[in-house]
Amino acid sequence: MVTWTNYFIHFWITDPQITFDLCRNERLVLGLLIPEQIRGKRSREIMIQKGRGDLSSEIEGKVVLITGVSPGSLGAFFVSTVAKHSPKLIILASRDFSKLQAVVAAITADPASPQVATRLLKLDLASQAQIRQAAKEVLAYAENIDVLVNSAGVMATPYGTTADGLEMQFGANHIGHFLFTNLIMPKLLTSPAPRVVSVTSDGHRLSPIRWDDYGFQGGKTYEKWRAYGQSKTANMLFAVSLAEKLGEKRLRAYSVHPGVIFTNLGQLLAEEDFKNLRDLDKELGNKEGEREGLVIKQIDEGTATHVVGAFDPRIADYNGAYLLDGHLAPDDEIKPYAVDPKEAEGLWKLSESLLEEDLAY
Ligand SMILES: NC(=O)c1ccc[n+]([C@@H]2O[C@H](COP(=O)([O-])OP(=O)(O)OC[C@H]3O[C@@H](n4cnc5c(N)ncnc54)[C@H](OP(=O)(O)O)[C@@H]3O)[C@@H](O)[C@H]2O)c1
Repeated sequence: MVTWTNYFIHFWITDPQITFDLCRNERLVLGLLIPEQIRGKRSREIMIQKGRGDLSSEIEGKVVLITGVSPGSLGAFFVSTVAKHSPKLIILASRDFSKLQAVVAAITADPASPQVATRLLKLDLASQAQIRQAAKEVLAYAENIDVLVNSAGVMATPYGTTADGLEMQFGANHIGHFLFTNLIMPKLLTSPAPRVVSVTSDGHRLSPIRWDDYGFQGGKTYEKWRAYGQSKTANMLFAVSLAEKLGEKRLRAYSVHPGVIFTNLGQLLAEEDFKNLRDLDKELGNKEGEREGLVIKQIDEGTATHVVGAFDPRIADYNGAYLLDGHLAPDDEIKPYAVDPKEAEGLWKLSESLLEEDLAY
């Protein structure tokens, strides 16, 4: 289903200038529900001041590092969009160099972005040793990092563990990004206006952090959708913590839900998995349990929210927020546990203890 909001974002993101005027589209303005205070308070509508936003100039000259950039992924589409707007450098991070090379070849073959500077970084988020190696490489770069987009992820995979023995979805989606981001933080904090975007999901509705059983008892209690939900809640809480701890050092952090888009993410899922997802939503009392089918977005619509999180100056006052459909999420789309500062601090401490690292700021 293409909603008006989606249609408008589609129109906007495919505009080569990435310019837009929110106030021209009444329906989109009505869709702009911005939490009065980010953490769990009532929402209200706001009118963004009339005038043109120009995200192209926000991209120009920036160094952008992104994880999860295989062909067909959200990360790859985001990169191909950003490449058209004269960034200084795009660093593409993934565990498979040949996939990165294919993405770079597509960008440089595009007449809109032939000259873009790119650099490849090997990063396996399921191995702490490899993450440390990758971070060392980043710290040796001459450039600052202006924007980090943590887009890599796995979804509802069969039970598995990372090289360090953590349940895979929590370990790669959260702990991997948590470690990498914190290790390269000195490179972000030397940028004049650094941003970190955590790509999460409305699937955060499927589970809070399972404080007593985040590892699913070595697989005995494993349920793949709850595990995905926990990892996506963790992505949101990470943005809350980064905003809390580093907002005073100019860092802006957001989590974004792109919408449901056909990528490689669900390629191993069977029909039964979708039935199980529906059953879990029903059990949890989520509205998604009553909905027939999925609302599918196009990839450009979905990555529009990445672009807003990474570059839109108008969200600067909403540090730590969760975004969807290209704007701040209304409260009824947010599970309070996923934006609760106490949960965020608890997750930070748990992550530090699992990594045996003191990452205090
Ligand atoms: N697509 C959707 O409908 C949707 C909806 C909500 C949220 N999201 C979120 O969007 C993000 C991107 O998903 P996508 O749709 O672009 O999926 P995708 O096409 O499967 O891309 C995922 C990317 O993550 C990489 N990755 C997976 N495990 C990794 C690891 N251990 N180390 C390094 N990289 C790893 C993959 O690399 P390989 O190619 O090597 O596997 C791939 O580049 C995810 O965080 C997902 O939760 C997606």
